[in-house]
Order: sequence, then structure tokens, then C-alpha cells
Amino acid sequence: LNAAAVVPAAGRGERLGPGAPKALRELGGVPILVHAVRALARSRAVSLVVVAAPPEGVAEVRTLLEDAGLGTLEGTSLTVVAGGATRQESVRLALAEVPEDVDIVLVHDAARPLVPVEVVDAVVRAVADGAEGVVPAVPLADTVKQIEPVAPGRPEPVVGTPERALLRAVQTPQGFPRARLADVHAKAAAEEFEATDDAGLVERFGGQVVVVPGHEEAFKVTRPLDLVLAEAVLARRRA
Ligand code: CTP
Ligand code: MG
Repeated sequence: LNAAAVVPAAGRGERLGPGAPKALRELGGVPILVHAVRALARSRAVSLVVVAAPPEGVAEVRTLLEDAGLGTLEGTSLTVVAGGATRQESVRLALAEVPEDVDIVLVHDAARPLVPVEVVDAVVRAVADGAEGVVPAVPLADTVKQIEPVAPGRPEPVVGTPERALLRAVQTPQGFPRARLADVHAKAAAEEFEATDDAGLVERFGGQVVVVPGHEEAFKVTRPLDLVLAEAVLARRRA
């Protein structure tokens, strides 16, 4: 198996609040991005990691990852490129650095630093078994309502309740045949189609995406409370 991992890490982290870009904020004294890259490098299938860094922080991110020993860790090589204005653009720019002889590409949010290697390996395996797109996902705890958008401050009318048992909350790494992912990113850029995840692009252009079990520790650090939870998970692991 020959897999590369693309890591969008160029976001500001607005919802986390003021401070450094989210990928550079620390968890257990180590930047979130370093945790995420280590989690990918732990997989024997991953031979290349391409990080999309904040455009003004490319050199800083390269140094940071090299200092963490991730330049050459266990046969995994590292490339850092400048990210784009959206997550989708950051993924497209990083994907351009993946050589054509790579069969499988994973796309993993820097903001999911604690993903267990078992999830990474399960995604790679499902792509190797022939899937056009693979997403790790977990069942929902909350009931989900669809609402009608109205003026801010007014109560939002509910228009429907999808059956919870059929819903999944989707995580990363998502996995794809490299050529397929490159193709749907090029098409999406050409017609200015935006999705909130990479699998959404494969779906849009007619590919069949499948779900494998995700993990509760693969949650995304989005809001301040998520950092509290991530610190607790890390402390439990180190205990
Ligand atoms: N991302 C990126 N390039 C962008 C925007 C986001 O590479 N222009 C990355 C983020 O760095 C993150 C991942 O996409 O690792 C998931 O996005 P999200 O959690 O929304 O992170 P941010 O966009 O940084 O956060 P926020 O939306 O709160 O500003
Ligand atoms: Mg965002």
C-alpha cells in the first residue's frame, strides 16, 4: 500500500477565539498540527504527508514539524505548501504536491489531532478494497432538526426531523483513490462547486462513498470546550 496524507491546516480557527492559527495552538505543550501529523505517520501505509499551512506561516510550520522529528519519521516524508482561502482550496493545493504514482490519498484535518491510528488504517484498507470514497463516521447523540432560515433573533421554524438512526457525523481522515480525488477537485474548482468535505465532491460527481467506523477521539477541535476535552483525552492517554 502506498498512501499519502494531505493535511489542511491553513484555517484561522475563528470559532476557537483569538490567538495563533488553530493548527499552531498547543495541546499538551505540542502544536495541534504536530499531533495530527504524528497520528498519520504512525500508519505504516502513509509514506508522504503534505501540509497546507497558513500562507504567512509556511517556513514556520516546516521548521516546527522538522524540529518535532517529522521530517523523516519512520520512512514518512513531509512537504509543506501554502494553503488557500477555503478548506477545499487548501486541499486542492496540497493534493497538487502528491506524485502520480501514489495510489491512495487521505485528507485529514489538522484540527483532529487525536485520531487513533486504527481509524487511519481502516480508511486506507477500505480504499484499497475498491471504494471510491471512504469516510469514518459515528452515530449521532443528538436529534437533528432541519429549520427554515429566518431573520436573526426570530424563532426558526422546524421543517423536518431526519431519522436519527440513519444519520452519521463524519470525521477525517477521508480516503480516496488519488486520481479520483484529483479529478473531482479539478471539476469542483472549474464549476465553483463547494462542499464541506472531500467526500461531498466525490458524491457530487457520481462516486459511491462508504462509511467505516470512526472514533470518539477523532473529534474536531472547533470551540474552546473542545480544547478542554482534548487536553483531558491526552492526559488520560499519558496516565
Ligand atoms: N482549513 C484550511 N484552509 C482554510 C480553512 C480551513 O486548511 N482556508 C483547515 C483548518 O486548518 C482545519 C480544517 O480545515 O484543520 C477544518 O476546518 P475548521 O475546523 O473549520 O478550521 P478553521 O477554518 O481554522 O476554523 P474556523 O472555521 O472556526 O475559523
Ligand atoms: Mg472553517
